Amino acid sequence: MPVTYKVLTPHDLDTIVSPRGEFARAVLLGLSKHEKSLPSRYFYDDEGSRLFQRIMHLDEYYPTGCERCILENHRDDLADLLAGEPFNLVDLGSGDGSKTNLLLSRFLERRLSFRYVPIDISEAAVSEQAGRLETTWPELEVRGIVAEYFDGLLWHSRDGSRRNLVLFLGSNIGNFRRSEARTFLRTMWSLLADGDLLLTGFDLKKNIDVMMRAYNDREGVTREFNLNLLRRINRELGGSFDIGKWRHYATYDVFSGAMESYLVSRVEQEVEIREINQRFHFDPFEPIHTEYSYKFLEIDIEELGADTGFLIEDQFYDDRKYFVDSLWRVEKPIA
Ligand SMILES: C[S@@+](CC[C@H](N)C(=O)[O-])C[C@H]1O[C@@H](n2cnc3c(N)ncnc32)[C@H](O)[C@@H]1O
Repeated sequence: MPVTYKVLTPHDLDTIVSPRGEFARAVLLGLSKHEKSLPSRYFYDDEGSRLFQRIMHLDEYYPTGCERCILENHRDDLADLLAGEPFNLVDLGSGDGSKTNLLLSRFLERRLSFRYVPIDISEAAVSEQAGRLETTWPELEVRGIVAEYFDGLLWHSRDGSRRNLVLFLGSNIGNFRRSEARTFLRTMWSLLADGDLLLTGFDLKKNIDVMMRAYNDREGVTREFNLNLLRRINRELGGSFDIGKWRHYATYDVFSGAMESYLVSRVEQEVEIREINQRFHFDPFEPIHTEYSYKFLEIDIEELGADTGFLIEDQFYDDRKYFVDSLWRVEKPIA
């Protein structure tokens, strides 16, 4: 018999698992583990993105207010750094872009020459934001990209002639485990050019009660945001999750320094997911881990920057020092 071999591509895998291959694979993998989990990036279908926009307006969810205050106070510092030559303002995981608008308005007022590049996996987020921007600032050049962070950044970097200021706001970096955050930032560094800037939002360690309230709001919007992941499996993958049999649970792990979100089964139950042809058993009180939101000390941020090839240019804090937008510059050795 002739010996052959085939290198499987992501496309091949998609065709054997299901048309919604990537999500289906992640669900299959996550729910097959002994300690079940689902990746947090699947929170953001259209419904999830809308729920997150409501979270951002909750009193308990302090990161939004903190970051607004930081951007208001420091947008001229950023404008000063960027004035003089054309640049790209790249917004990774742009969401509704409401905080970014603070920068856009000031950069336009100061007549800086720039293009705005929002990158988000949620098509609803990018298209709705693009619509709003067209109405508010018709003179603004917008090149939205619906993609994973790095697919989008890779696509964007084909045109490498301008300097970039990359925004990674809203403490998205906290959704990665420590080692993943390093890998993420290293990859970012490799896709950017010497002198490019990165502004990352880090949620700082603080009173545990303040953090607990932020992830357990009184209106229950965070609960609905978490449960939407099961609804999404029902909608897209033919799941049979009975939402009433699940509860949202968010707590702070003092050892890891992360707020962690779970969905906990209220009863013993079986759930079928047709698209992947599987049934999953859940014991009473069995959790599915859905999100990490790591909190940082200043020293953690300094080490992260140094370990991943960046130079820390500045640290912009809010008044209570709950949050920091950390401005880093890419440093590449001379070839
Ligand atoms: C927590 S929200 C932050 C939105 C905005 N940057 C802010 O600070 O208000 C996260 C956003 O990142 C997007 N997102 C999450 N994971 C992503 C990924 N892997 N690639 C691209 N976008 C992603 C979501 O769709 C969502 O709009």
